Amino acid sequence: MKNTLERLEELNEAALLGGGQARIDRQHKNGKFTARERIDLLLDPGSFIELDRLKTHRCVDFGMEKSKIPGDGVVTGYGKVDDRLVYVFAQDFTVFGGSLSETYAQKICKVMDLAMKVGAPVIGLNDSGGARIQEGVQSLAGYADIFFRNTRASGVIPQLSAIMGPCAGGAVYSPAITDFIFMVDQSSYMFITGPEVVKTVTSQDVTKQELGGAEMHSKTSGVSHFECSSEEECIARLRELLSFIPSNNAEDAPFQATDDPSNRLVEKINDIIPENAQKPYDMNEVIKLVVDDGYFYEVQPQFAPNISVGFARLGGKSVGIVGNNPQHLAGVLDINSSVKAARFVRFCDAFNIPLVTLVDVPGFLPGVDQEYGGIIKHGAKLLYAFAEATVPKITLITRKAYGGAYDVMASKHIGADINLAYPMAEIAVMGSAGAVNIIFRNELKNAEDPVAKNTELVDDYQSKFANPFKAAELGYIDEIISPEDTRIRLIQSLEMLENKRESLPPKKHGNIPL
Ligand code: HXC
Repeated sequence: MKNTLERLEELNEAALLGGGQARIDRQHKNGKFTARERIDLLLDPGSFIELDRLKTHRCVDFGMEKSKIPGDGVVTGYGKVDDRLVYVFAQDFTVFGGSLSETYAQKICKVMDLAMKVGAPVIGLNDSGGARIQEGVQSLAGYADIFFRNTRASGVIPQLSAIMGPCAGGAVYSPAITDFIFMVDQSSYMFITGPEVVKTVTSQDVTKQELGGAEMHSKTSGVSHFECSSEEECIARLRELLSFIPSNNAEDAPFQATDDPSNRLVEKINDIIPENAQKPYDMNEVIKLVVDDGYFYEVQPQFAPNISVGFARLGGKSVGIVGNNPQHLAGVLDINSSVKAARFVRFCDAFNIPLVTLVDVPGFLPGVDQEYGGIIKHGAKLLYAFAEATVPKITLITRKAYGGAYDVMASKHIGADINLAYPMAEIAVMGSAGAVNIIFRNELKNAEDPVAKNTELVDDYQSKFANPFKAAELGYIDEIISPEDTRIRLIQSLEMLENKRESLPPKKHGNIPL
């Protein structure tokens, strides 16, 4: 018995030491925490229960049979975040560079399977050299086993990925399928092929950070949702995100009581939205004025900022907010903003989070680049996502709602439950100046004083269509509200819709334009 206990102690010690003190020191020197330190930061103190701590690889090639470390490069198990169950795996770069073996993949699959059975989120902390080179196809099979589970779990349990070191080759596809990606500045990168291959194939010189760093993926590609300046910030933000979302698709997000009164007036909105419809303003300021305690947890703030998406609470309940932001590109819808918002809308719909849509949109961005890039199919994604969503949907037009973008931005016609507008809202096919140019081209050409005629026609068009009254008359807008009543009305609408039940026609799945 004594021998057995001693053996267990030895094995536990070996597992806790991972690839050894020298490699742990190197990890620290590189400004990175170890897998176990990251788990300690992530979970409530003392809540982590490890599984498969003693599991080892089975490779007998390249002398690997002599080199076995209990745990084999990934720490897996479960624990609590704010007292709620989560499953976690943390790749341990000190063990074979965190590379993925067949048994390592089995450890990850085990926690994913448990998470699916009980309905709890899976959090992956990624820091890995990719496929275990010594194992070849067995490692590739392990990746595929994870991808398969990522896909089957999508929309059932939340899956969150933090990238805290290398994540390259096909390995990127597991995080890519998960719901949200957090990346740490400078120490993390994601790419399909690294700088050497890029150089060989395209002759381009590029650094790892330029090719796949946190900044690039958060601003340019949109692969990452959060760029974090440190591992501590990354984990703190990840914990916070969990507070806005339910543990699975059958639950509601946690309620968080607030002292912020439900009947609070928000007079300041009048100071933020300029009377002149051509002038920009920051929709995020409007959002912060309205939501509980002025707190907006923005998702992808740097990517396609012409649309803002993120979580907030109204009367203690979690909501997903989508708002055109006139501060950037006049709030126009383009390829990137459509795709960004569509994915966010689908996440909220999958996880029972009501949608609040704030509209100030001059239309879709015209241009050769947009057409060649497929704005038709990408814009359709957002239309499809809003139309398909069955969660409570509340829409408020703050100023412009022009053209096809009016329809797309959660209009009554594609299934919004409550549609509100401010008195200064303009709901029209296009702006007055553009409209007059098209429908009165001949009159303007023949007019004695074309400038005066233009002003007269623009004013006339403006008074007829640049307001919310026609839409209200037709019942497309349920109520025209004063800006100061925004918080009150949104909370009342959410309360009214609390027991909304809507289902889609029976089908295997839809065919969203990809
Ligand atoms: C086995 C690996 C490894 C791997 C690193 N190591 N990657 N062992 N398989 N894939 C080991 C190293 O031998 C070394 O062992 C230790 O991990 C740390 O590696 P270093 O190179 O010393 O670290 P660093 O200088 O920080 O460089 C990190 C790295 C580099 C950039 C990740 O190690 C690297 O390029 N590794 C290979 C990456 C790769 O090509 N992976 C396969 C990609 S294809 P010691 O004993 O010295 O500590 C792929 C396909 C997935 O992943 C497909 C899924 C469908």
